Amino acid sequence: MPAIARRLPPPVDKPAATRDKLRKSLLSWYDRNGRELPWRLRGQRPDPYRVWLSEVMLQQTTAAAVGPYYARFLMLFPSVQALARAPREDVLNAWAGLGYYSRARNLHAAAQTMAADGIPREEEGWRALPGIGPYTAAAIAAIAHGQAANPVDGNIERVMSRLHAVETPLPAAKAELRAHAAALVTKHRPGDWAQALMDLGATICTPRSPKCDTCPWRPHCAAFAGGAPETYPRKTAKASRPERCGAVFVVYRGGDIWCERRPEKGLLAGMPGLPTTEWRPEAWDEASALAHAPVKAAWIKRAQVRHVFTHFTLTLDVYAAKTKPRGAGFWGDESALPSVFRKAAIAAKR
Ligand code: ADE
Repeated sequence: MPAIARRLPPPVDKPAATRDKLRKSLLSWYDRNGRELPWRLRGQRPDPYRVWLSEVMLQQTTAAAVGPYYARFLMLFPSVQALARAPREDVLNAWAGLGYYSRARNLHAAAQTMAADGIPREEEGWRALPGIGPYTAAAIAAIAHGQAANPVDGNIERVMSRLHAVETPLPAAKAELRAHAAALVTKHRPGDWAQALMDLGATICTPRSPKCDTCPWRPHCAAFAGGAPETYPRKTAKASRPERCGAVFVVYRGGDIWCERRPEKGLLAGMPGLPTTEWRPEAWDEASALAHAPVKAAWIKRAQVRHVFTHFTLTLDVYAAKTKPRGAGFWGDESALPSVFRKAAIAAKR
């Protein structure tokens, strides 16, 4: 070999060539392995109403949990107009159990804006509606309108942090990870591209035990090459979630439970709930809890349930009594209760 040839650096991919390889391998993986989900109608023109509804439901909830809610919601509210016309209580009831109820309130408000002003046709327009952040607006623009948008959520951050072995910890790494994702977006199949990345993050490049054996990006993945892909993304230490304590009061009539409408402001605003004490850092002893019961009765402590909210973990003492309720309340089915109260109602019956 002539001396000059030996001194040449090894051939490196041009960025565009690397991008094209990554795109091709992920899209063909998606064509073969993408999840069959109720809101994905392959080969059909996407309906922006359905795409919007699914993306809002998927904001803090897994695809598996969303499936049945999505189907029922579409039966009850088959169009933006139907949703806009529906009473807010019906919308909140159809959402009960999905959590993060401000999503349902914003969904209803956004439907009313869209019924009056029309459905947006691009990312900016979606971004202006209540409950739609940058991720959801970009996902809808890509999936419903075929725009070259760049939705980046926690799953896609994880995928990018591993692909490039990004050492900057989250949250400082956010802009860097977004730029890595943006470098892979083109005008070709943007909706499929976004969903292929989501599926890769949800099914292969999972947080604790990534399935690198079946990953289409294994040959390109810097974290895999480094031997410890599960240690990405790097994270700065998180403060632990505070604990709170409360008591709830369950009164039955047949299968129904005595419920109260929650205040319009604050956690679970406007949702049906059970009569409850304040939720505070200190535990409640029985006497001080019962001073907050909705009526005087022979209350029996039946159970204790725990529920994890975004900003705290709650332990609830569940009291039950056979009594006639009083005050502003109504008989309701436990299935219409948000999960924290539904858990308590079920525990009280056992
Ligand atoms: N998570 C958020 N949007 C999604 C989608 N369209 N498909 C799968 N998972 C998602």
